[in-house]
Amino acid sequence: MDYFNHKKVLITGASSGLGEHLAIELNKRGAHVILVARNEKELTRVLNQLDKTSPSIAKVFDVSKYDQGGVFIADLLKEIGTVDILINNAGISQRSLAVDTSFEDEKKIIDLNLYGVLALTKACLPEIIKNKGQIVVINSVMGKINTKYRSAYAASKHALTGYFDCLRIEVEDQGVSVCNIMPGFVATNITKNSIGSTADIIINSANDKGLSPASFAIKAADAIAKRKREVIIGGFKEGFAVWFKKLTPKLFDIFIKKQKVI
Ligand SMILES: NC(=O)c1ccc[n+]([C@@H]2O[C@H](COP(=O)([O-])OP(=O)(O)OC[C@H]3O[C@@H](n4cnc5c(N)ncnc54)[C@H](OP(=O)(O)O)[C@@H]3O)[C@@H](O)[C@H]2O)c1
Repeated sequence: MDYFNHKKVLITGASSGLGEHLAIELNKRGAHVILVARNEKELTRVLNQLDKTSPSIAKVFDVSKYDQGGVFIADLLKEIGTVDILINNAGISQRSLAVDTSFEDEKKIIDLNLYGVLALTKACLPEIIKNKGQIVVINSVMGKINTKYRSAYAASKHALTGYFDCLRIEVEDQGVSVCNIMPGFVATNITKNSIGSTADIIINSANDKGLSPASFAIKAADAIAKRKREVIIGGFKEGFAVWFKKLTPKLFDIFIKKQKVI
């Protein structure tokens, strides 16, 4: 029997990109998926691609409204009973230098990518502990490295690395697995939706040359099923960058300054 069979899996940011393809892949493997995002029409489009016999549902919620996360999860639990796996995937990226990025835009990134994630994680945690379930975070290689044009995004993703590394050792003895998934470039709408993106940046997006979201979803599903603690899913360059930064951070800065990341 597949690892995901009859598991209740909540996926945020499930109306597009990685979240959409994870929902389809996990549902194929037997999961009952709870799709969460803001765009109801897109959520319905994704829900219509899922197995009609499985009780998957879609819920409209703005994850960046972190002060409402607790009530959202409490209401959801009343409706569906429990959650086995939470996949924190909703996120927004950045394509602007720190000097050109307003504080409001930096806060927008951090409210969604960090505070929103923490609010939902904390609200789901008692159920996940009860079920010896899993918390998955769709982080980024930017949770480990630095480049230009990603300052607030890297801040949010580095914070996720720190938070979930701590949480893992707090809950692993209770049977809970925390899986940190770090994608490299994957071809989704992420560049188009990034803070600071322009028409020129969108046309030349490095993401479009990256992995397909369907291949990403297969690799991510395999990592979740193996209850891995951390995995990089992307091209050789992104994996190399993480290794290089760890080995020699100063040389890494010299190297990464010259790379095209926008
Ligand atoms: N693609 C890559 O190359 C890449 C690389 C590294 C990391 N990642 C990470 O992967 C995750 C998914 O990104 P993606 O590439 O799939 O991008 P995407 O295609 O832009 O999808 C983002 C998803 O997040 C949802 N979302 C955005 N703001 C939200 C909010 N306030 N509340 C609830 N949902 C919200 C969007 O749905 P609505 O607009 O309907 O709300 C959408 O479903 C992000 O955390 C990103 O940092 C992606």
